[in-house]
Amino acid sequence: MKLNIALLAGDGIGPEVINQAVKVSNAIAKKFNHQITWTSALTGAAAIDAVGEPYPDTTHEICMAADAVLFGAIGHPRFDNDPKAKVRPEQGLLKMRQKLGLYANVRPTFTFPSLIDNSPLKRERIEGTDIIILRELTGGIYFGARGRLDDGNTAFDTCTYTRAEVQRLAKLGFEMAMTRSKKLCCVDKANVLETSRLWRETVQDMEKDYPEVTVSYEFVDAVAMRLVQWPNSYDVLITENLFGDILTDEASVISGSMGLMPSASVGIHTSLYEPIHGSYPQAAGKDIANPLATVLSAAMMFEDAFGLKEEAELIREVVNKSLAEGVVTEDLAGKNKAYKTSEVGDWLAKNI
Ligand code: IPM
Ligand code: MG
Repeated sequence: MKLNIALLAGDGIGPEVINQAVKVSNAIAKKFNHQITWTSALTGAAAIDAVGEPYPDTTHEICMAADAVLFGAIGHPRFDNDPKAKVRPEQGLLKMRQKLGLYANVRPTFTFPSLIDNSPLKRERIEGTDIIILRELTGGIYFGARGRLDDGNTAFDTCTYTRAEVQRLAKLGFEMAMTRSKKLCCVDKANVLETSRLWRETVQDMEKDYPEVTVSYEFVDAVAMRLVQWPNSYDVLITENLFGDILTDEASVISGSMGLMPSASVGIHTSLYEPIHGSYPQAAGKDIANPLATVLSAAMMFEDAFGLKEEAELIREVVNKSLAEGVVTEDLAGKNKAYKTSEVGDWLAKNI
């Protein structure tokens, strides 16, 4: 099969972790006789430095022409400490989501048997966790009108949702629930927010189309608590943009390391696969960052974008093997030998 993949390494540790996913993908291509064409493009602070903006049109064209986008990370401390900066790397990510129509962010959270004790949560609470948070990604407060009032001392951000936006996200949630345990949780704040009441009303109307799915409606503050208390009580959760941003970081704690969890963003145009962690600038260039979240994002890409399940399974299998055999970066090594980012990538490729 011919696979045309756009490669957006981005900032910080992005290029280092992306390189390992490329090694692993190339090993898969060799083994299963696929031809991958990688096309690199600039995003984030790297793009601001080169051409003055974080998601240049040339990058968008490359993404549109590709079958899938593999993405590293975005963000640079130079901008974080400057609230007055006019252009920020994160704007590139938001523009990319919007222009590619990536309205759904799929973030699985699961545990690795060999790493259960790395989680700050008790083994009996998290063992066997397998949940998916489906976050709306191109609406809500992230994209509503914002600004300052004349005196500069008052600021506002607005949250807007249309019924159609809720429907298309919820449809994915119902369909995903149908392929799993047929349990769906709609996370909102309908006791306070009008947008949440629209979410609840819309999802309630859709229930009749999926009679086999049991839907629960829960407030986001309660979910934030239950997610770490009894993650196993959930399966598929759907929620709006900002709630999803917060809950997905919280959920990553269950797996024991942010360096492990992959994600997919899907919607109207090309789908995008990326680790959920950020650009980890303190580690940039040191060859110490954990590449597994990016490698597992590549596995999601093989399976979801190209329908190559066996290839995806093999990647997951060698990742599990590397964890079981302790071929891991310093975040997971504990007192044992820590491998370099590039060494983990080489090991995975060799084992494929
Ligand atoms: C994420 C990140 C982004 C977000 C930032 C970098 C803009 O936190 O992908 O979760 O808030 O969506
Ligand atoms: Mg986030």
